[in-house]
Amino acid sequence: MIINEATFLISNTEYDKCPPPVLPEYAFIGRSNVGKSSLINLLAGRANLAKTSATPGKTQLINHFRINKAWYLVDLPGYGYAKISRMEREKWEKMIFDYLVNRPNLVCTFVLIDSRLEMQKVDLWFMERLAELEVPFNLVFTKTDKLKKNQIDATINRYLLQMKEYWEELPRHFVTSSEKGAGRVELLRAIEEYNQLFIQSRAN
Ligand code: GTP
Ligand code: MG
Repeated sequence: MIINEATFLISNTEYDKCPPPVLPEYAFIGRSNVGKSSLINLLAGRANLAKTSATPGKTQLINHFRINKAWYLVDLPGYGYAKISRMEREKWEKMIFDYLVNRPNLVCTFVLIDSRLEMQKVDLWFMERLAELEVPFNLVFTKTDKLKKNQIDATINRYLLQMKEYWEELPRHFVTSSEKGAGRVELLRAIEEYNQLFIQSRAN
């Protein structure tokens, strides 16, 4: 897919103020600092479209970007950020889950996993919530440039094998590095396929 247009539209705390739910939409979520905003910039082919930071907790709102005037990318705040209070966390959960269940045009979400880390409880918790809420998701392994080349496959296979202890069926997965551009083509191809399905389902 060639990206001709990438536009920031709006930041929100409430799902009902998001852009009209007419275009197919894809949300990126994961632990704070996992690389969501960086991946959005990689996909859009624009270095500074979404704001990134080395400090966790940078993205705090629901951010909509429109791509090729045809679909939306959504950058969400991260979960599992240790430095926030319980009240803030509950506010975060309400904002995110309200958004996830109230966007009829949300085709699927991409759950980002830091490929350097062992399986994190908070990621499993979040994926379980998605399943309960019937929000489809794919997995995206990030920061694979930080692993040795010959470790990437083994690391990801180990993760997926561990997931099999909890899940009957494994989600689709992508292997990425925003630093090196890895996984961009595969992710954009998947989104293109999803866009087609969305258009077909709306035509029926
Ligand atoms: P929050 O908005 O705080 O939840 O974080 P985020 O998930 O949006 O992460 P962000 O994209 O801001 O990246 C966090 C840090 O990781 C930044 O310092 C990025 O430069 C770095 N980073 C992101 N992706 C990669 C990657 O593929 N490789 C490497 N080496 N660093 C990355
Ligand atoms: Mg971010």
